[in-house]
Amino acid sequence: MKGFIRTFLAVFGAVGLAVVAVAGFRGDFTQRTPIEIFPDMDRQPKYKSQTPSPLFPEGRVDRVPPYGTVAFHVTTDQPYLITGKMGNMWGTGIPVTVDKKLLARGKERYEINCQVCHGATGAGNGITTQYGLVGVASIHLDKYREMADGEIFNTITHGKGQMGPYHHIEVADRWAIIAYLRALQFSQNAPASLLPPDFAKAGKP
Ligand code: HEC
Repeated sequence: MKGFIRTFLAVFGAVGLAVVAVAGFRGDFTQRTPIEIFPDMDRQPKYKSQTPSPLFPEGRVDRVPPYGTVAFHVTTDQPYLITGKMGNMWGTGIPVTVDKKLLARGKERYEINCQVCHGATGAGNGITTQYGLVGVASIHLDKYREMADGEIFNTITHGKGQMGPYHHIEVADRWAIIAYLRALQFSQNAPASLLPPDFAKAGKP
């Protein structure tokens, strides 16, 4: 037993000395990088804004915006185009050329950005509603058919209630989406008198 205790104390002392030799005493100042068991992504190979960088000639991270860049929300000579407002009121009308190409673009952008919630026809029954999202607006309600284009532009840009903002969509594409949205509304609510004669005869499917 005596032999065991002696060996134990000797080993304990040696291990203690080794730990102190490697780690130092508590409170010691050191220039060495601490040993990190879990680095938790504290250091990442990326540049943070306003820091130096040897990569660029001026030696800094921040870049000058490319020539011709217009800052978000800067007033241009076409305020309606970027705000949806005419004076203090929501304006109406699509301020870009409406043709088949624009509608095709609007359809594509709608399907990418809006369909998940609003559904393929805009009835407010997108896939997310099957997973618990409630309160998605149907664009076929009278109030949305009557809503000014500019107000819809504003909803896309800034969001509304539960809907988040979609200002990453380019301005022209937001208007393309609105044009397509109007086509969707029309598709679900066209008076029979406006149908081509063959369709009108066939009646409702
Ligand atoms: C993540 C789901 C989601 C997506 C994606 C989404 N919306 Fe919405 N949207 C909603 C919800 C929810 C509402 C109801 C907001 C409220 O009244 O709280 C709404 C409301 C609206 C309204 C009515 C706003 C009003 O003024 O009452 C319009 C118009 C609309 N969305 C258009 C769009 C368009 C266009 C897109 C694509 C650019 C889009 N939404 C993408 C969820 C979404």
